[in-house]
Amino acid sequence: MCGIIGINSNKPVSANIINSLKKLEYRGYDSAGMATLYNGLINEVKSEGRVENLEKNSLVQNMEGTIGIGHVRWATHGLPNSINAHPHSSQNVSVVHNGIIENSTILKKFLIGKGHKFKSQTDTEVIVHLITENLKTENIVNSIQKTLKSLHGSFALGIIFKDQPDLIVGARRGSPLAVGYGPNENYLGSDSYALKSMTNKITYLNDGEFCIIKKDYVEFFSEEGTKINKKVLELSSTEEKYDKGDYKHFMVKEIEEQPNTIKNGINEYIDMSNKDINIYNFPWRSDEISSITLIGCGTAYHSCLMAKYWFEEITSLDVNIDIASEFRYRKNRFKKDTLYVFVSQSGETADTYAALDLCKQSGVKTCAVVNVVESSIARDSEFVLPIHCGIEIGVASTKAFLGQILILYILALKLALLRKDIEKSNFDKKIDDLKNLPKLVEKTLLIDNKIQSISNTFNEAKGSMFLGRGFSYPIALEGALKLKELSYIHAEGYPAGEMKHGPLALIEEGMPVVVLAPRDNYYKKTISNMQEVIARGAKVLLITNKSKDEVISENIWEKIEVESTNEDLLPFLLTIPLQKLAYYSALKKGYDIDKPRNLAKSVTVE
Ligand code: M6R
Repeated sequence: MCGIIGINSNKPVSANIINSLKKLEYRGYDSAGMATLYNGLINEVKSEGRVENLEKNSLVQNMEGTIGIGHVRWATHGLPNSINAHPHSSQNVSVVHNGIIENSTILKKFLIGKGHKFKSQTDTEVIVHLITENLKTENIVNSIQKTLKSLHGSFALGIIFKDQPDLIVGARRGSPLAVGYGPNENYLGSDSYALKSMTNKITYLNDGEFCIIKKDYVEFFSEEGTKINKKVLELSSTEEKYDKGDYKHFMVKEIEEQPNTIKNGINEYIDMSNKDINIYNFPWRSDEISSITLIGCGTAYHSCLMAKYWFEEITSLDVNIDIASEFRYRKNRFKKDTLYVFVSQSGETADTYAALDLCKQSGVKTCAVVNVVESSIARDSEFVLPIHCGIEIGVASTKAFLGQILILYILALKLALLRKDIEKSNFDKKIDDLKNLPKLVEKTLLIDNKIQSISNTFNEAKGSMFLGRGFSYPIALEGALKLKELSYIHAEGYPAGEMKHGPLALIEEGMPVVVLAPRDNYYKKTISNMQEVIARGAKVLLITNKSKDEVISENIWEKIEVESTNEDLLPFLLTIPLQKLAYYSALKKGYDIDKPRNLAKSVTVE
């Protein structure tokens, strides 16, 4: 992961580097650092923890220099401390790096043999010494090209040189990197978001390319070292402002914004008056697609699993889903009549991007369901379905999940209609139900107090389980993921019907178990599975939907009822109490809700 910034200007750069690093913190937040050139020397300052620690450092406050690089880190090699924080520097060169150098051990041995001394446990430091070594015999361009050739793995790099007061080098393989253009200054950044307060004119580097950023111009080079021309893109110049407002955390704000997420998605894709779905410029005819493969990671993978149930229910398409990190290393049988859908909030997740890249190389149909429309996955897919939920800051994905499943549901309905898999009357009914969804989400959000007290039991337990069948199973997985990532409580999501094949052995007296049993086709079966865990001592929190029929069960510990709607849409509502449960558990534990330990918002390493 990690975030990179570089600024070459004729004014002091340290304040702008700090501002950009704050925007990049979603990529990593275990340490931060920066380096500038001043009076012919490289000045380096690094701090453990957040960018605010770096900002408070008196050395940064007095930092001079009109050219500099900065970094926020998500540790891969070496502890998250200030020694391992970036930049890493020799006397001549300073480097910030996002990615992993897979052959760093061999390179380090070679460099130690040449007399280089290492200070950190990072893989990055080999880049510093390799460039330093190559500079003994080569000019800047050749030394960079030679260095990049020796590196295995993935990287986005920002490099400054003691003897080059007007030059930043940027290089990319695997990890994203953008160049920005300003008045008498130019920039390097992990993404356009980090540069947006300074410029909306952007060029994205492709894999293998590198660049030399001067104050007045930028030169681009191919992997082979030949000069190339690249397009300058003009992005929207309005910088989306997003703050916590009166909320304590971004996460809770983002949970509360979900009625709008649904409204935005509906407004964007559904023509309520004509009862139709508008997906403009969809590049394929429906008879060119006979199967669909959905790929993502973490919460986005849960969206794929959710979509599988809907696609199978509503369409006659064959549906496969895959975790991106598995897909990329399997022997896939790529099929021309399969639509490959990449689901990602950030659009920068390395594994998902690599899976997309593989599909592109195989010449199959690719479509992205993303939130960040300027992201690598959006740019490089043939077709994009944006989820329009606005910036999501909390590391735990909430509104993006509902946004993703909404768009995937809409896509399933559209393909079903085009393929004549669904009766028009049934389609119309489903569109009508969608119209009411924002209101139902809003009402479901009101179930607050009960969840606050329920969360105490989860906090005191050794572990917990989340069970569901059918449409509720992906939601059980998502609920368990939210609880573990925020509260650091062991939580396992499981298909309710699978418990007897092993996990039932985990149930002991007082263990909290969430059972998702809405009044759908699986209701009775799930209630039986619930009885099986109650009989073994579990404290069951039953989450169902409001109904005139009583729940056919006693001995449950707690019950939460969400609003009622058609079976397809219940997963949206069941998600909400689970998001809140995770939020309140972490709140009571006093954990850092928007930045849970060891994680980052955008996962740009494999
Ligand atoms: O940006 P993406 O949607 O591609 O991210 C995928 C996962 O890293 C992400 O959903 C992660 O699992 C979240 N932290 C879960 O809340």
